[in-house]
Parts: sequence; C-alpha cells; structure tokens
Amino acid sequence: MSQEPVYAPNSDFVAKAHVSGMDAYRALWERAKDHPEDFWGEIAEKEIHWFEKWSHVFEWNPPFVKWFVGGKTNMSYNCLDRHLAENANKVAFHWEGEPGDTRTVTYADLHRMVCRFANVLKARGFKTGDRAIIYMPMIVELPVAMLACARLGITHSVVFGGFSAEALKARVQDLGAAVVITADGGWRRAKEVKLKGAVDEGIVDCPSVKEVLVFQRTGSAIDMVAGRDFFVRVDESQRLAEGGIDGTLAGDECPAVELDSEHPLYVLYTSGTTGKPKGILHTTGGYLTYVTMTMKWVFDIKPDDVYWCSADIGWVTGHSYIVYGPLSAGATSIMYEGAPDTPDFGRWWSIVAKYKASILYTSPTAIRALIRQGDQWPNSHDLSSLRLLGSVGEPINPAAWEWYHRVIGKERCPIVDTWWQTETGGIMIAPMPGAVPTKPGSGTLPMPGIIPEIIDLSGNPVGDDREGFLVIRRPWPSMLRTIWGDPDRYADQYWGKVQGVYFTGDAARRDKDGYFWILGRVDDVMNVSGHRLSTMEIESALVKHPAVAEAAVVGKPHEITGQAVCCFVTLKKGDYDHHELGIELRKWVAHEIGPFARPEEIRFSEALPKTRSGKIMRRLLREIVTSHTVSGDVTTLEDMNVVTRLASQHDED
Ligand code: WTA
Repeated sequence: MSQEPVYAPNSDFVAKAHVSGMDAYRALWERAKDHPEDFWGEIAEKEIHWFEKWSHVFEWNPPFVKWFVGGKTNMSYNCLDRHLAENANKVAFHWEGEPGDTRTVTYADLHRMVCRFANVLKARGFKTGDRAIIYMPMIVELPVAMLACARLGITHSVVFGGFSAEALKARVQDLGAAVVITADGGWRRAKEVKLKGAVDEGIVDCPSVKEVLVFQRTGSAIDMVAGRDFFVRVDESQRLAEGGIDGTLAGDECPAVELDSEHPLYVLYTSGTTGKPKGILHTTGGYLTYVTMTMKWVFDIKPDDVYWCSADIGWVTGHSYIVYGPLSAGATSIMYEGAPDTPDFGRWWSIVAKYKASILYTSPTAIRALIRQGDQWPNSHDLSSLRLLGSVGEPINPAAWEWYHRVIGKERCPIVDTWWQTETGGIMIAPMPGAVPTKPGSGTLPMPGIIPEIIDLSGNPVGDDREGFLVIRRPWPSMLRTIWGDPDRYADQYWGKVQGVYFTGDAARRDKDGYFWILGRVDDVMNVSGHRLSTMEIESALVKHPAVAEAAVVGKPHEITGQAVCCFVTLKKGDYDHHELGIELRKWVAHEIGPFARPEEIRFSEALPKTRSGKIMRRLLREIVTSHTVSGDVTTLEDMNVVTRLASQHDED
C-alpha cells in the first residue's frame, strides 16, 4: 500500500455489511465485467418488480443504449406499492420544516398522497408522454409530485428552487412542459423563497403550459390566474382542490401505468460548456435497478436504518438518493426543508440526534462550513446513532475528511466518498464500506459494472499516478440516454471526445492500489458549493447587461465552497462607478440564473487576454486568480500587457 493514511472498516461493520471484505467486492466487480448480462439480469430480477420481464438485458448501439429491453415496470410502483404488504406503516420520511414544524409520512401515507395527486393530474387531462416542470421547496409534496408523474408516465423535470424565473423559462420551453407544479414558497434562512411569483414571470411566452398546480407551504398571498392556476392538496384534510378544480376529491387509489423499461422518467438540466443547459434524460428500468442496488452497495442500507441525504431534491443527488433510491429500497429517510445554520449551526446535529440518523450523506462544502463554526456544535448533540457517513459533489480535501471522520463519525463510521454526475444517474466510484479500505480524498474503487480508465486525449491509458482524463468504458444501467431534443450534442459531448468511451469531463489519477483520485473539471464547468455552473452561462448573463462589452468567467479556489465565481468584465464606453456596478452585476447574475450563481468577485479590465484568432484565454485568467502569475505557453497571446495588468490588479470590491 502507498503512504497515504488508510482506514480499514471496523470488524463489526464488516461482519454485518451487505458486501463484506475485499474479496467479495473483487468477485462482484470481476463478474460484472466478464458477464454483464447475467450479473445485471439477476440483480434486476431480484431487486425490482416487473409487470413483464425483459427480453434481453441490454442493447448497445454506440452511443445509444437500452436496458432491460422489452421489460415493463413502474418507478412509483417500485417505490410504494410493493412495500405495502409488509411495510405499510414503516416511516418513509421524517420531514422537518425549517420553522420547526414536522411530519411523519409512512409508506401507506405516501402511497395515498401520490395516488391522489396522480388522480388530479389524470382528471386534468395530463397523461403518459406529457412533460411536467416541478418547481418546489423541500416539502413532502415534492417527492409526491415526482412519484405521481412517474406513476402515470409523465416525464418530469425538477427545477431547483434557487433558479430564477429566467432559468425556469428556458427549461419549460426546452421541455415543452404541459403543466407546472409549484408552491407558493418555501422557507430558507427564515425568509420566504417565493416560487409562484417566479413561475408567473417565467411562463410568459410558454404556450405549451396549460395549467399551474399550486401547493401551499407558506400561506403567503400569491396571484392566481383564473383558468390556469389551481390550488391542490393531498394531505389528510383531503381538500384536494380549492379555488378552481371542481371541488371533487381525488380517489386514494390510482393504478401505476405499466411502462416500457426505456420510458423517459425524468429530464434534469445541468450545466455544460456552452451557455445552454443540457437536459439530461434518464429512463425507467435501468436507472431504477442501479439506484436501488447502489443503496445497498454504497450505503449498506438495512431495514432499521434512518438515512439522511442533506442535498436538495432539485439536484441529481436528491433525485437518486433522497427520492428514488431510498424509496425503492424501502428505507426510512429524513428530509429537511431549510438551511444548516438556521436557527444556528447546531441544527443538523439536533436533527441527527432527534431522529437517530444512522447514515448521513452530505457535501464537502457543508462540512467545511460546519468545521469553521467549531466542534462545540456537533459535540453538544448525541451523534451516537450514526454508523456511516457519505460525501458527494466535489473533491473532499483530506483535512475536511479527517474532521468528518473524527468529530462527526467519532472514528467509528466509515466514510464513503462518492464520485458521480447528473449524467451517470447513480454513484460510480465509491468504497463499499464493509469491503474497501478508504484513503481521505479518494473515491477509491468503481462499482461493479463500471469500468473507468484514465487516458490521454489520444485514448491511451496513462500510467499509475499520472494525471489524465477520466472516462468510462462501457454503458451502465443508469447512464443518461441522450440530451433532451439534441442527440447530436449527446453523441458529440460524451462519446465523441475520445472515440467509443464516455468522457466524464473530469481529470483524475489512479494510484498503485488502483484507487481513483478526482482532480476536478477539465472543461468550462465550475463547481461552486457542489453546484455545477457553466462559465459560459454566466458570461452570457453578464453580456446581456447594458454596460458590459465582454465577460470572461473562471472558478477561483475558495476555502469553503471549493470554487467561487470570478468574473472579468470589460465595459462599453461610459462613466461608471466600479464599486456600484460591481454590486449591480452580481445582483444581475443572481436574477438571470439564480442566487447560488452570484459571483464572488467582479474585476473590471480594459481588455481581456485573447489569442490572435480572438478567443479569450481563460486558462490565463484561471492562473491569475489562482496564483497571480501566468506560466506555460503564451505565444498565441495577442497582447501580453493585458495579462501583466490583470495579474497586478487588485480586486475591485
Ligand atoms: C464533481 C453531482 C470529486 C465532478 C453528483 C463531477 C466530484 C461533477 C465528486 C458532477 C466527488 C461529484 N469527488 N468530484 N466525490 N462528486 N464531483 O452533475 O467534477 O452536479 O463531474 O453531480 O461534480 O456534478 P453533478
């Protein structure tokens, strides 16, 4: 073994784990590699309910794949109905609102709520093949809406509640959504995030939208457009429809539609290397199989676990590991509406103690923010229920890993550092906690069926400990199927960079033990607090401002959020107060994309460094914000003085 510290799982954990010991892991991985059809076929048969069995396990016509071809299933049935015989009264969600209100929702409750809402959708004329945009706070009605769509075969796209009206509009239009499901607002840091207002603004010029269905969370005053907007309820009061829908109660039973294994389950928009977000399409059978299985492999989920993934459902982590994976696996989860610092930095730890959470899955950004507040917060709560910790979304620095291990896990809990992407649908590289010893900062080894490699741009593997591009050699069940409406972009971006392999866009190295170390993005995608942001998207937003001539955006290293958004801006002719304009531009970006994209820094410049052919050299800007100097080849640079000035310039605000 190499010099990094290595943490072996403790023997108690190993003894009880779904997969115990390295040999067991290796045997699974080898079998999946050598006999993928048998391997996945057996898992799908054992773990998933099929109305009709598939004719073959997968069909690979590069770059397009189908899994469990010809099979018929339903995500909502697998997440709900099949648990009712034995686990109707098991808690599906311990829900905690930010103001302190709580709800306990059993599998029977959730099934009833989902059926009611599916019946509402049906009664309003929405059906299999339609698309729904879901723009909601972290309330139980959010998974209800997703599962009701899935029940009927309505393809949903959840838009994170932090996105602006503009961003919402782009997604509604791209998807051609027939219905928008929303709420009046949600609570975040004791303030209301107003969602319905953003919907009203966002769906102007969206002729595809026939209706807006509105849940009530905050009770604040909102505008309702007659004939378009309807209040809906699915909770115990049974008042399903007010103010418009004819007042009848929707029934508590709604059969799940038997859908093709490849039926489009959802589209989730994510940032790419251009200004236009990509609609990542996930389908039903393969995705369902993979997220269910990884709940066991990575989270070692057991019937009496209390599992908490702190992500927002608006991101892929929430789709796969708050909603679909845990519910399909029949788990009990915690769902929390608000911010970790409200009312104080003890909030998360009080939630862990209150519900006796046994598994916690969160992001390095959250861990670093909590470290900064001091150990007294976690130390004043009983965290002894925890048995496993997880990390996702960005590389975790070894210091944060050690703190998580020591202060939260009390050196007792394995840490699973999980590498994956919106596109991969499920966890790709992570330790199986009862099998694989961990090294702080490494995602360790791939899941069975996942064949990653590190290569150079000609497609040749680089040696051990060498940096290169992380690619995946073979299709896996939860792989994205395409980019919604743009198969050419899908083929080009994921399978065209290096012929025949899936290009992740991440740089990585593999050490002598075969462990993977993710180094970060190789493209123009930034990772801020674990949220993916495109430099181009922010640049397009900035140049829409009347004062801005040109903009170049790069990620700047940041102690807590990993990266921060740093913008270089040149201005049109005029007399500007740089300080005021800087504030205005930051607000502008927050309005155009969403508050989470607000730049940390705006730097004004006379000019931007460009190649002789006029391309902005972002690489130089990245070096300027990272090290205040530039190195490497600058022979293509048009005007070196621009760089010298930028490198010596102080921040404007
Ligand atoms: C990064 C989030 C290092 C990576 C599930 C990837 C990580 C991008 C890790 C996908 C990790 C995610 N270690 N980097 N454990 N997990 N990333 O689509 O750059 O929001 O390509 O999916 O986040 O972000 P996305």
